[in-house]
Amino acid sequence: KKEQKALFVIFGGTGDLAQRKLYPALFNLYKRGYLKKHFAVIGTARRPWSNGYYRDVVRSSIDGMVNFQTQIDEFASHFYYQSHNVNDVDHYETLRVLADKLDQDYGLEGNRLYYLAMSPSFFGTICEHLKSQGLTKTAGYNRVIIEKPFGHDYASAKELNDEISKYFPEEATFRIDHYLGKEMIQNIMALRFGNSILSAIWNNKMISNIQVTLSESLGVEERGGYYDTAGALRDMVQNHILQIVALLVMDRPDSYCAKDVRKRKVETFEALKIYSPEEVAQNFVRGQYGEGKDMVAYRDESMIAPDSMTETFVAGKLEVDNCDMAGVPIYIRTGKRLATKATRIDIVFKQDDDSLFGGQGLADNTVTINVEPDTGIDFTLNTKKIGQEFATRQTNIGYRLTEEQVAKVPEAYERLILNALQGNSVNFTHWDELEYSWKFVDAIRNAWDQEDLPVDYFPNYACGTMGPQASDELLAKAGHHWIF
Ligand code: BG6
Repeated sequence: KKEQKALFVIFGGTGDLAQRKLYPALFNLYKRGYLKKHFAVIGTARRPWSNGYYRDVVRSSIDGMVNFQTQIDEFASHFYYQSHNVNDVDHYETLRVLADKLDQDYGLEGNRLYYLAMSPSFFGTICEHLKSQGLTKTAGYNRVIIEKPFGHDYASAKELNDEISKYFPEEATFRIDHYLGKEMIQNIMALRFGNSILSAIWNNKMISNIQVTLSESLGVEERGGYYDTAGALRDMVQNHILQIVALLVMDRPDSYCAKDVRKRKVETFEALKIYSPEEVAQNFVRGQYGEGKDMVAYRDESMIAPDSMTETFVAGKLEVDNCDMAGVPIYIRTGKRLATKATRIDIVFKQDDDSLFGGQGLADNTVTINVEPDTGIDFTLNTKKIGQEFATRQTNIGYRLTEEQVAKVPEAYERLILNALQGNSVNFTHWDELEYSWKFVDAIRNAWDQEDLPVDYFPNYACGTMGPQASDELLAKAGHHWIF
């Protein structure tokens, strides 16, 4: 019963995301037997490619996996290319005919997944025509998978959602946040709710503060056109960081199913404090990278305006007013061109009384979830310093996935596509969550827009550092410090 029968229709089939993420993910599902005989893929985009050329592209996108040559050939034979103009109604007719034929040939039982891996400005049109031209009129399921960015602010996200939901109901809409597909992000719930030694102390009596760091060493790369209109707040905080925060502070769901998990996440978002402009100034810091060793400043990157005021770094303090976590500062931080690539979560516990040990202070008590590239969990504890005196020293207890285990971890896209095939939306973002997260982000963005900083405010951090000094000061003024 493992095999999933379905037709994938990928809009943006020639694109970067499809080649870097989707085709390798589909191939992994194929290797593991989730996709077998009964699947087919139609790739669409404007370019006039042949099936043969398309299959070559698919093959080369999974070429690193050389040991599987015969499998790769067999796999690639399930791919079909259809040149397509998303605004041209007739093209959907051609698409429908091909889809129906493949449905017959491969025995797909009318199951269809439409993957929208292109500019969101086309999402509405595509969904409309899929419906009006009868592509969704099948005996099986019809689901749509949507890539980010889902809107630019609350108003545009709502407009986009209103359009899509005219044609696809919420249950059939799968909004991707690839962080939710990461092994260690999915581990948050297991850790929190599978260990009484943690669940008992996961509250504002015991936790001093929470720190979420999504640090990147890469710069903006070739995505300047998009990034300069987005910035770090929209690119990383609105989606990935707020989703992680929700998993960290939400109450225990009644069950591990989409409905119950979403309920808890939405409650958390509702309890997230939306800041006034004065509060934004107190609680949020932004930065933009200047040059560093062998690295150019953000403003000198291609497709970036020389006087761009877009932030490539954000640090902030969040508050969630739900009973267990009320008053616990949640510090978040993300940026490009920082010292290193590291996604990690540090839970910092309150300090114990140190008088027994001569009042010399105790080291931080923390639980760290290392998401990537380091994968594992660390506890830092105070233990007795070896020797005659009665003093303490910091000790680290760590669990690391072995290389072998890491190799077995399904990639985020592989996991999420399988979830979508199975109709399981537990790891996708519900519209209600988006609604709140955009309102939170809009308040910050609007406050910043009113601030009217001088052009020379940026750059304010050098490539290869951990961001502007103000990020450290944000914690220092509450008597805290970044653990990482
Ligand atoms: C994407 C952002 O959502 O996440 C990128 O648009 C960012 O700017 C990327 O680089 C980071 O993802 P990961 O999985 O490499 O940590």
